[in-house]
Amino acid sequence: MLMRLARQTYVRQYGEFTYLFGKVSSFDQVFRSAGPFFAHITRQPKKRDAIIDEIMHDYADVSREIVEKDFDELFSPLIAQKVILIGKNAKELDSQEQFFTYDCDNPKTKKDTHVYTRDEIAALPATLMERYFAEHPTLFSLHVDVTQACTERCRHCYVPEYNPIFLPYDKICQVLDDFREMGGIHVSLSGGECMMHKDIIKIIKAIRERDCTVGCLSNLTVCTDEIINALVEADGTVQASLYSMSPAIHDEVTRRKGSWIETVGAIMRLRAAQIPVLISCPCLRINYKGYTEVMKFADSLKMDAQTDFIIMGKQDCDTSNLCNRLHLDETRELLQDVILKAVPMNSEYFSPGKKEQMLSAAEWRKQKVCGACVNSMCLNATGDYYPCPGFAGVVLGNCYKDSLHDVWINSEETKRIRAVTGADFGKCAECKDRDYCSVCMCRNFNETGDMLKPAEHFCKVAAINHEVVDEKQRQMIEMAKCNAL
Ligand SMILES: C[S@@+](CC[C@H](N)C(=O)[O-])C[C@H]1O[C@@H](n2cnc3c(N)ncnc32)[C@H](O)[C@@H]1O
Ligand code: SF4
Ligand code: SF4
Repeated sequence: MLMRLARQTYVRQYGEFTYLFGKVSSFDQVFRSAGPFFAHITRQPKKRDAIIDEIMHDYADVSREIVEKDFDELFSPLIAQKVILIGKNAKELDSQEQFFTYDCDNPKTKKDTHVYTRDEIAALPATLMERYFAEHPTLFSLHVDVTQACTERCRHCYVPEYNPIFLPYDKICQVLDDFREMGGIHVSLSGGECMMHKDIIKIIKAIRERDCTVGCLSNLTVCTDEIINALVEADGTVQASLYSMSPAIHDEVTRRKGSWIETVGAIMRLRAAQIPVLISCPCLRINYKGYTEVMKFADSLKMDAQTDFIIMGKQDCDTSNLCNRLHLDETRELLQDVILKAVPMNSEYFSPGKKEQMLSAAEWRKQKVCGACVNSMCLNATGDYYPCPGFAGVVLGNCYKDSLHDVWINSEETKRIRAVTGADFGKCAECKDRDYCSVCMCRNFNETGDMLKPAEHFCKVAAINHEVVDEKQRQMIEMAKCNAL
């Protein structure tokens, strides 16, 4: 019998923890003390007995019978889920590969997300894992703005200047090598417009060659069939910005005539190539009335979609783009609609279930507010490293001077951002609207110039969100009472 990892299974070893990620069904699981078992299952088919022979070297004083028993116990559920493949020959292995497809009622990445059951969560060594990752900050995700140039000039965009700066392919490969070496797993390409980079196809390939997942954030206006083929080869995914089903309104947001046709045309071509696409529809004053049409369009294509109304200032703290963001009465109108229809949001503003789980002020003060410099980091086209998409005003280092490892471990700026907890946000811990708010260093910084000082607008929006969620819950209780009569 031959065994190998499935094409879209990614394995990383962090200390005594083995992390397994299956991209097709968003499966993920953590194992403790199983490293020597996973180390010998690779993408190359190997005989089961040969794998067990290799494992035996690490367990010299354990009998083969026990190793085989542990091996079967560990891998049988993973084989059943096709995360690890087993078969008589290469053809049989290949035939078991699972791929994302729209040609079914329920495309895999859309609904099959693995949700841990209560028992599974209890079984995970959470405190040990927390301690390990607190002592060994681990970079899981890297966001790379391959250029600042863009084909569009969106009214709300946080990019201050669309400079034709392109991060060279060789430099990107050097960073990717470090990233992989450090245990990194997810890479997203963005900008500006990443598909304008002359080497975008090579970059996509380079990411996959380093056994990382690849995602592109794109407006798709210059998405060629060659780029689509590269994404297919690399098992890539796409997040596409679509602002309206009215071509005139979409083009009014992007300030590029004909952009709606280009974007929608590319979405259809990505779909035909079976590439998972998430449609993102940020809401501004000029497009928010039509956001449900974009959601319906996505649904008709069996694609995921999300909206958001959190528009932040530009990366250089210029707030002139904020005149496009919803006024408070419009925000209330949108939130009522979103909550009623349970539309996915690209933020934690809307979360009716949170009330019961709200942390005490003391607990919240101890917590990190986000993953910036904790498990993720960004690289700008200029070579500057920065904490999270949009937060380019804080520079952590530069890839022309510093290695990724050095910036991640030794940069004083990285350490400063990583050390931030709820306690640093003054009044937020005691705030009654805290769980209806996305306390966010980037949004604060871009609007107030101080990453720890919230903009008044976000506080007002959190209060509205709280009211709307409470109102909805009251209605549901009333309805339940009526139904019970
Ligand atoms: C900066 S763009 C880069 C990728 C690509 N050019 C695109 O538009 O999809 C990534 C996403 O950020 C959103 N975005 C841009 N400026 C924003 C802002 N000021 N606040 C919130 N989201 C913003 C865009 O609408 C887009 O969905
Ligand atoms: S939001 Fe994206 S497409 Fe629009 S101007 Fe900014 S970078 Fe370009
Ligand atoms: S509403 Fe304002 S004060 Fe309250 S948690 Fe959010 S940012 Fe902090």
